[in-house]
Amino acid sequence: MLNQKFNHLIDMDDYSVSQWNAMISLAQDIMARPESYSDKCRGKIMATLFYEPSTRTQMSFQAAMIRLGGSIIGFDNPGNSSVAKGENLKDTIKIVSSYSDILVMRHSQEGSARAAALSAECPVINAGDGGHLHPTQTLTDLLTLKTELGRLDNLTVGLCGDLKYGRTVHSILKALSCYKNNKFVLISTPALGLPVYIKDVLKARGCEFREVATIDEALPELDMLYMTRIQRERFDSEEEYQRQKGIYVLTKEKMQLAKKDMIVMHPLPRVNEIAVEVDDDPRAAYFRQAKCGMYVRMALILTTLNNQLTANPLLVGVTERDCRCTNPKCITRTEDYLPRSFRKYGDMMICEYCDERVLLK
Ligand code: NCD
Repeated sequence: MLNQKFNHLIDMDDYSVSQWNAMISLAQDIMARPESYSDKCRGKIMATLFYEPSTRTQMSFQAAMIRLGGSIIGFDNPGNSSVAKGENLKDTIKIVSSYSDILVMRHSQEGSARAAALSAECPVINAGDGGHLHPTQTLTDLLTLKTELGRLDNLTVGLCGDLKYGRTVHSILKALSCYKNNKFVLISTPALGLPVYIKDVLKARGCEFREVATIDEALPELDMLYMTRIQRERFDSEEEYQRQKGIYVLTKEKMQLAKKDMIVMHPLPRVNEIAVEVDDDPRAAYFRQAKCGMYVRMALILTTLNNQLTANPLLVGVTERDCRCTNPKCITRTEDYLPRSFRKYGDMMICEYCDERVLLK
């Protein structure tokens, strides 16, 4: 098997529910007694490579490592690194991972984290790969749900906004669909609906879900409403973004339709999809959620560095030299040396990096 020296976190599916539960419990212990963890990563180095903008993910990872007693290196503007000179992903990762004990990467191309892990000399954590996945935001979301509502099962969850390009939506659905009796209400325009491959995950796991057009019709039954930003940077045209923006706005008035103990979550940044007046409602959990991100990342760094995780292999499919992923945003389109690896799915092939379905010729 290719590069299985390390336990990377590329996708929620890489680990089992019991491993996630253990990590959430550890994060809760860190929250309760942070001082007992302040020396746990002394002498360790974490690299953060952010090819795309970030506030919370990058800084919460960095704060997490510093609070564990470790140190950080990295860049948040690839234009100041050798990437600007044309260095490929493989070489950058090979070098930076040889300087570090753990590497956190955010990149605009789908499947980039899996590609990076293939050449890394240390564990790689996916901090967002284009519009595809964002597993550490999901860990944040799970810790928030556990802390706020006390459970990760028997929940009715509404997800609203950009379900097509919102990577946090894809990852949270992959995780919550593993817990018992969770139901999902997908609130979006037809143009920004959930990708088929995530719907297929929900179906395969026997989860109940329905698609609706308005927040109002979903609100009364929800235990949690997950609002998302329309992902302007992922649209093919500015006109299409202009058509989609501003359709969903959560206001104080709408909150009257919700249960007294429902919570509102949002990975942030918000643009206009939650009116500022909602912030004073005790059910607005999004700022508390952002703080959970730091504790859960402390738990993730610690568990990864202590080698307490057992991940699934990076590539399990077949390598097809003549088959090319058709997704223009897939990392294999620009990093030509990558093995073109696919899983067979009926008369289709699924790209192992970005999950695009490719028809066999
Ligand atoms: C999200 C992301 O980067 O996908 N932000 C985050 O990590 N907290 C959500 C977004 O950018 O809309």
